[in-house]
Order: sequence, then structure tokens, then C-alpha cells
Amino acid sequence: ARPKDLAGLRIAVTAGPTQEALDPVRYLTNHSTGKMGYALARAAAMRGADVTLIHGETALQPVRFTTDVPVTTAQQMYEAVTSRFEDTDVLIMAAAVADYRPAAVANDKIKKKDGDMSIPLERTPDILGTIGPRKAHQFLCGFSMETRDLVENSSAKLTRKNLDMVVANNLKVAGAGFGVDTNVVTLITPDGARELPLMSKADVADAILDEILKRKNS
Ligand code: C5P
Repeated sequence: ARPKDLAGLRIAVTAGPTQEALDPVRYLTNHSTGKMGYALARAAAMRGADVTLIHGETALQPVRFTTDVPVTTAQQMYEAVTSRFEDTDVLIMAAAVADYRPAAVANDKIKKKDGDMSIPLERTPDILGTIGPRKAHQFLCGFSMETRDLVENSSAKLTRKNLDMVVANNLKVAGAGFGVDTNVVTLITPDGARELPLMSKADVADAILDEILKRKNS
């Protein structure tokens, strides 16, 4: 078993997709299953951290020994994260938060008509983008999914959102990304980029937590 090297740390992990309603029967979402975030919550709890798992709709079982906070929309996730932020030491944003939502939610089912139609969208709040610039003692870890220029785009995110670490996923690599139990990630910090080999999401979670602990203690 792992030592309880995270005892005393309050870690909030976000996981899974958000759902943005269009009407009572339809919503916009993405392919996130929540596996990476849940693996992080499980690993952190096993290592003694006080873990809050804030998650969108997933098919996964709740993680034992964590505080479970289910949400549906990006707005709800924003509120769940910001309301706990003062009492959080480490925030790991593994959730795939929708960037846009329908500008209006219809009260009744939208009926089809002849011809094409389009949906006006508005931006959701950028959770990390809002709290990054306001952080005090907190360690902030974001995730990044890119299909090109992984390190360049993710390093830009680190600076722009005032993060301490970005876990970059290349969606084009076999065994990485949505749905699978393995991942290939690059850890990006102010000191540079370090690519990890193909590993289970459980091992990736421990590697991410190792890096966070090392950086918090240095
Ligand atoms: O800039 P980009 O959306 O690619 O950044 C991804 C990171 O930002 C992820 O950690 C994600 O959880 C977080 N995010 C957020 N609020 C949003 C969208 C993404 O905190 N509205």
C-alpha cells in the first residue's frame, strides 16, 4: 500500500462532462467518462487526502472515502468549485467543462420545422480562468486536450490561467483520452514539459499527485 503522504491536504477534483440543456429533452455534452478524475480522487483518498469529488453525469460508482458533489451544468460546477475554494489546498480540474451553452433554454420541447435550424450559444464561465488569477495558497492543476501543438497550447494555458501545472492529453495518441483505462500525458509546469509513458489511469493519477506533492513541498 501507498504511504499516507497526502494526509492533511484538502484536494478538490472535478471530473466528467457537463450537460447544457437546450430544452427539456436535449442537451449539449462531450465524450468525457470521468475515468481520469475518478482515478485521481481514488488515489488521493488512498494516500490520506481529504477529497471532494465534484462531477458531472457519469456511469461510475462514487469513490469511497470522498465527499461526493454531483452537478450537471458548467454553471453548477463553477459554483461548487468557487464556494469551496477557500477551504481547498489543491484543485485538480479534470472535468471536461462545456465552453458554450444554449443562450436560452426552452420550457417546452422544440418542435421540428421544415428546413435547417441553428442554435445560438453563449460562453459558460471559465472556472480556472476566473479563479486562477485570484488564487492565494492553492495549487491549481488544469487539464488540456489538444489535437495539435500540445506543449505550446498547454504551456500558454499555464500562463494565461495562472496555473501551477497542466496535464496535457494528446487525443491523437493510441491508448490516451476518452473512455479507455490508460492514458498518455505530458506534465507541464513552469520548469518545462515531461512526457510520461503509456500507463493505467490509476498510475497516471499517482504520478500527477507525486508531482503536485513535490512542487508543494519545494
Ligand atoms: O482552455 P481549456 O478549456 O482547454 O482549458 C482546459 C482546462 O480548463 C481544464 O482543466 C478544464 O477543466 C478547465 N475549464 C474550466 N472552465 C471551463 C472550461 C474549461 O475550468 N469553462
